Amino acid sequence: MTTFEAYLDSHTGTLLTEELVVVLRNISEATRQISDKLRSSSLSGLTGTTDAINVQGETQKPLDLVSNEIMLEACRTSPSVSFAVSEELDVEVPIHADGKYAVIFDPLDGSSNLDVNVTVGTIFSIVEASAATHVLKCGRKQLVSGYAAYGPQTHLVLTIGKGVQIFTLSGQGDYLLTTADARIASETKEFAINAARRPSWDEVIVAYIDAATDTPGYNMRWVGSMVADTHRIFNRGGIFLYPADRNKPTSGRLRLLYEANPIGFLVEAAGGAAIAGNTPILDIEPTSLHQRVPVIFGSRNEVAKISEAYKVQSLEAV
Ligand code: AHG
Ligand code: MN
Ligand code: MN
Repeated sequence: MTTFEAYLDSHTGTLLTEELVVVLRNISEATRQISDKLRSSSLSGLTGTTDAINVQGETQKPLDLVSNEIMLEACRTSPSVSFAVSEELDVEVPIHADGKYAVIFDPLDGSSNLDVNVTVGTIFSIVEASAATHVLKCGRKQLVSGYAAYGPQTHLVLTIGKGVQIFTLSGQGDYLLTTADARIASETKEFAINAARRPSWDEVIVAYIDAATDTPGYNMRWVGSMVADTHRIFNRGGIFLYPADRNKPTSGRLRLLYEANPIGFLVEAAGGAAIAGNTPILDIEPTSLHQRVPVIFGSRNEVAKISEAYKVQSLEAV
């Protein structure tokens, strides 16, 4: 079986620089450590919540903080990393003055599921950034993105700009390639949305969900950890929606830089689509580090139905 190391080696000098390989090696090691911390969290007291509140106004869990520290350490041990940006940190952290890559991450995604023992993840994105202002670039300029899904198995899902590879953590601590060139099925009959938020949906989303619900064979799933919902979509197709509040069309729950962009980059590299209403997520020019956006992604044909409906709506509005 191909190891993560061998996969990186085979692309060094073409899609990956030697410096990027070091960063990726350190990130993969960080996810291995986070996976270990999660496995024993009830035994080591890393449960419940802390008194701390992050810049988004969310109460931090001990494992949010531990995972954040492990990811920061991965950045510090990578000489080419210039800045780290995290969901759990107010502003970007300078790492190495002569570094050229920023690592942008959600150290633990789905952390409300932690004490429930449900799959959570780490999401990361790497962009070229020798100055802090370079961090705010559109998702198409990502060099690499990926996530680790910590479930019954730990999987590492990676794109280096071409194709998506899925690695599985072995009992010996090695990531081994278990799905080469993962593709997202273009058709689906499964959607993921928090239905409790229906009163805030716009007409396009209401119409889409009503039509799906009225069509025999459609199924709904909602884990509450975007990585887990994404992982299911990689496995058997589907569509994920965290749409805008209809009174605030550019709003959303999920964050552009460390949730929507890295997942959008992976989804497009696997033949799926990712939009924020009228625009592809990857075309959005960010204006701030913790900016939130509407997020709709997954099987291409299903996302196209929503994209078309938004186009019709905006033409009617003219
Ligand atoms: P995080 O734990 O990093 O704050 O992200 C949680 C996100 C995402 O993982 C998930 O899809 C969504 O929030 C869940 O939202 P609801 O609480 O509305 O279900
Ligand atoms: Mn998250
Ligand atoms: Mn998080």
